Amino acid sequence: MSTNRRQLLQSMLAAPALAGLAPSFRAFGQEADPFITAPEKAVDVFDFERLARKNLPPAHWGYLATGVDGDATLEANRSGFSNYSLRVRRLVDTRNVDMSVKLFDSTWETPIALDPVGSQKAFHPDGEIATAKAAQSRKHLLILSTVSSTSVEDVSAARGEPVWYQLYPTDQWAITQALVRRAEDAGCPVLALTVDLQGGSNRLTLARSIPRDARDCTACHATSRTRLSGFITGKPMFAGLDTAAVEDLTPPDMTWDYLKRLRDIWPRKLMVKGLVTREDAALAITHGIDGIVVSNHGGRAEDSGRPAIDSLAEVAEGVKGRVPLIVDGGVRRGSDIFKALALGATAVGIGRPYIWGLASFGQAGVERVLDILRAELAITMRQAGTRTIADINRSYVVDNRRG
Ligand SMILES: Cc1cc2nc3c(=O)[nH]c(=O)nc-3n(C[C@H](O)[C@H](O)[C@H](O)COP(=O)(O)O)c2cc1C
Repeated sequence: MSTNRRQLLQSMLAAPALAGLAPSFRAFGQEADPFITAPEKAVDVFDFERLARKNLPPAHWGYLATGVDGDATLEANRSGFSNYSLRVRRLVDTRNVDMSVKLFDSTWETPIALDPVGSQKAFHPDGEIATAKAAQSRKHLLILSTVSSTSVEDVSAARGEPVWYQLYPTDQWAITQALVRRAEDAGCPVLALTVDLQGGSNRLTLARSIPRDARDCTACHATSRTRLSGFITGKPMFAGLDTAAVEDLTPPDMTWDYLKRLRDIWPRKLMVKGLVTREDAALAITHGIDGIVVSNHGGRAEDSGRPAIDSLAEVAEGVKGRVPLIVDGGVRRGSDIFKALALGATAVGIGRPYIWGLASFGQAGVERVLDILRAELAITMRQAGTRTIADINRSYVVDNRRG
């Protein structure tokens, strides 16, 4: 691209007219770097974001990028990390940094987890298989979405071991039972019930992206009696199930009692994904939950405007180490991961960043995203004078709002 054209685009982006646009319009407005022609050329995860935007058709980009309403929570997830500064120590021998963490019965080389993202064939033809192979080659925890475009059996085979399974139970108990049994038969050691979409979600970037997509979508998106049953009919985890009556991925009347019901049919570790308060974390523990994913669904659930990292700090203070905590939402750099660990996370999940890698270069793109984040975490740990993940504690961060 010529310098003139780049300058023109940059000045357009800085123009007051664009600056005043709703965030969901801004989601369409940046250029990919023409020099990122191979995964190794990317220097941070944002290089993949721009490439993914260029590669993906508008509606699929909209599905990936979308927040809700005015994107307050989406933006807060990212900006929330700058409320915390690192408080680093000097003169520590950090030649041998050990990033490993133990979660339940497994030890992972790093605390970086690939959190559930549905419909990954929308981002690359290899979809979840590419992600699973990257998780395998780099030895990362992978949590598979209920609305995956590849089955739990095939993804586990590509990962080389059973993956963790994220559950959208639907509003039909017979389907819940079938999904849970299938995850159990596939050997999944952990089930994570997602609870943050019970109120629905108002995804405006997605809504705006659909009319921009001129393709015929009916080949992949089957139409059916209800919109949702049309969406899930083509998903492998629902194959052979009667989905006609499904109107919600989450039972609208779900309460804490539901966890007991789930407990009775799931014999292994049970996590809840989507808690953001100390009170709900306490209730989860009372109800026998084994672990919590502190998450606002990457800003795709409620329009709270509250950063996930603040929710983590609150939840960790309340939980006091009784159960492991995974946090996700806006994690884009090794220093973000470090801050989350310092504030009490056991592990740290990413969603969009690995999908940017997937949409850019398939498996190799996901691997490069993981390599970048691992390298950034390692350098942050060395700079801070922390040799192990256990060394990283609250004293290594300052909440700038409190001083
Ligand atoms: C395109 C997309 C699809 C997602 N699908 C699911 C899903 O099926 N189940 C789920 O529990 N969370 C889902 N999530 C939320 C992620 O698991 C995770 O909470 C979130 O992406 C973390 O924020 P980040 O994208 O800023 O890293 C999805 C997120 C995105 C971006």
